[in-house]
Amino acid sequence: MTTLDSVNGLVNRLQRTCTALGDFGGGDTAFSSLWDALPSVVVVGGQSSGKSSVLESIVGRDFLPRGIGIVTRRPLVLQLHKTEGSQEEYWEFGHLPHKRFTDSALVRKEIQDETDRITGKSKQISPIPIHLSIFSTNEGQPESVVKDIEKMVRTYVDKPNSIILAISPANQDIATSDAMKLSREVDPSGERTFGVLTKLDLMDKGTNALDVLEGRAYRLQHPWVGIVNRSQADINKNTGLSFARRREREYFASSPDYGHLASKMGSEYLAKLLSQHLESVIKAKIPGIILLINKGIDEMESELDHLGRPISVDAGAQLYTILELCRAFDRIYKEHLD
Ligand code: GDP
Ligand code: NA
Ligand code: MG
Repeated sequence: MTTLDSVNGLVNRLQRTCTALGDFGGGDTAFSSLWDALPSVVVVGGQSSGKSSVLESIVGRDFLPRGIGIVTRRPLVLQLHKTEGSQEEYWEFGHLPHKRFTDSALVRKEIQDETDRITGKSKQISPIPIHLSIFSTNEGQPESVVKDIEKMVRTYVDKPNSIILAISPANQDIATSDAMKLSREVDPSGERTFGVLTKLDLMDKGTNALDVLEGRAYRLQHPWVGIVNRSQADINKNTGLSFARRREREYFASSPDYGHLASKMGSEYLAKLLSQHLESVIKAKIPGIILLINKGIDEMESELDHLGRPISVDAGAQLYTILELCRAFDRIYKEHLD
């Protein structure tokens, strides 16, 4: 295992523990500050912009912390339907056909319950999507559910240490990209946004994306990376990741438009770029993370004192996990990163 692998492993475990502790501590504790301090990658982009493809490609390399900022722990496929007449707006889930929801609080609860039903209490992520349809007669404003989803996304991207992987498809005007709209709002200086342009192969013949890729159309601190993922036909044919990688490399190397940028394009380069960036962010954060862990342990111990002994098995186990992680962090930090 490389140093980065072991550090990422620890970040993962800390992230999981913090998530578990969210239920235990709650509120504004050192553990919630710790959660904020842990670096994470949040993938944002419009529907079908290529988020899953990029993630698959990157995670295929096995270097990212898990617990990546996925909004719901199952993908949510949201569809807006326009209905005729003066009917009240309602929602329907794919797994509960014909049951009409008219209260957005109950919709939210059902998303939560249905997620837990599949993933259990383990807080795991499941690839099985939840299908949700909104039936509405008015076209104007997004419905409250859409706003709630936006709010959920925001709690992740607002985290100051989250790295935003902003996915936009090249066959769509960058000025209308959902990902760039969100990035502009939460990261106006473009410090923590990595702009990713997918579907270069699907652009109209005779056009190219050099304006974006060379940073003229939308300026970010980090370089833009162009990507050619597997197409739907490739997916249907079960095209493998390594074949897709090779083909992507050839695409850039032989492209009259992008040949001069070939070494800084593609999924492999993106993975390397993110890995290097995460490594430097993690290294810089470790001393602060250790401080927060110690503060959290103090807080937890005094909370346990306050609640009175004997401590529950759960709380004891969590405390033990934190102590173990703290020691491991300390050790790796001293051994490798000083
Ligand atoms: P998501 O909804 O943002 O997660 O997007 P997906 O990764 O599921 O991709 C949506 C569709 O676009 C799928 O059929 C992909 O195969 C296809 N797709 C994604 N990226 C590319 C690309 O770079 N080139 C081509 N040709 N198709 C792509
Ligand atoms: Na988009
Ligand atoms: Mg997806």
